Amino acid sequence: MAANSDIAFKRLPVKIIGTGSYVPERRLTNADLEKMVDTSHEWIIERTGIVERRIAAPDEYTSHMGTKAAQRALESCGLKPEDIDLIIVATITPDTFTPSTSCYIQDALGAKNAAAFDISAACSGFLFAMKTAVQYIGTGQMKTALIIAAEKLSTVVNWEDRSTCVLFGDGAGAAVLQASTGEEGEGSVLATDIGSDGSLHDLLQIPGGGSRCPTTAENAHERLATLAMRGNETFRHAVTRMKASAASVIERAGLTADDIQLIIPHQANLRIINAVAQRLSIPEDKVFVNIEKYGNTSAAAVAIAFDEARRSGRFGKGDNVVLVTFGAGLTWSAAVIRW
Ligand code: ACO
Repeated sequence: MAANSDIAFKRLPVKIIGTGSYVPERRLTNADLEKMVDTSHEWIIERTGIVERRIAAPDEYTSHMGTKAAQRALESCGLKPEDIDLIIVATITPDTFTPSTSCYIQDALGAKNAAAFDISAACSGFLFAMKTAVQYIGTGQMKTALIIAAEKLSTVVNWEDRSTCVLFGDGAGAAVLQASTGEEGEGSVLATDIGSDGSLHDLLQIPGGGSRCPTTAENAHERLATLAMRGNETFRHAVTRMKASAASVIERAGLTADDIQLIIPHQANLRIINAVAQRLSIPEDKVFVNIEKYGNTSAAAVAIAFDEARRSGRFGKGDNVVLVTFGAGLTWSAAVIRW
């Protein structure tokens, strides 16, 4: 088990200057799922809070969604693709194992001055990417970073397994980061936290399709290249880790729960979100939720929520916003941003 911190950077000289998101058009409702597996709208809404999720078209890939979210993020801050010198894509559903999805996105954007690579931290990926970008910019190695979280989870869902297929959806979110003048506010990243516990790798995994268990003609029918989860245990760890990670960044930013205007948690389950907020003593009206529209889009979920919260005015100048996530690995991550 490992957790790291940015103790040396009480005030990181990095700010978020733009955000964007994209979700595919097709909606898959709970009523649609009732026709596919033995489930009900009532069960799904009561246990998860999800009403519908978006499903990408067959010819719409993770990189296509990521590119659209990135273009919106660049538009929102008036930068051109050539201004970007670092692209980090967080995904567990890359277009291909190699090249990286970030290279496809670099090409589609025309961001010819950027170095591009992917990271894999499941639902925690967007904030792992944020922390990575903060280190590159904070140490003067890079000037402008584009971080993207994009997922086409519909390609790794077993649509005959009711315990998982009701949970997931497709989408993408992005943010642009730059060195700041050092003054707080206007998107300053005040503190970040990432952590992992690999001993729990089998709680939530896609067991097949990699070098450990390649898909073969003999095992193809077992659908090993789809998401498998021990839901109850995952739930428990999610609450504990998200609470601890959020509390640590709030403290490291020199704040208390009362100073937080909005918390944007990973959108995996409404009951997890409520339990985390309650343990942090953050009231319901300060918690951003959009799980009813998109379900769990893994790394993309917190990125989409952050962009929607910004565009809809859920936070404004001077507000302290906490992002917090949890995912397979296990992994967890959190950040405090002063807008
Ligand atoms: N419809 C109807 N019944 C269902 C369904 C369904 N879709 N799915 C399961 N059930 C049944 C089960 O079979 C079980 O029946 P039984 O009591 O007869 O055995 C019953 O409902 C209860 O099942 P539980 O698994 O105990 O239900 P729970 O309340 O734990 O909810 C859920 C399941 C929603 C999956 C929850 O455990 C959860 O959200 N876990 C966390 C998921 C998560 O956070 N993932 C994060 C990371 S995702 C990533 O990294 C990609």
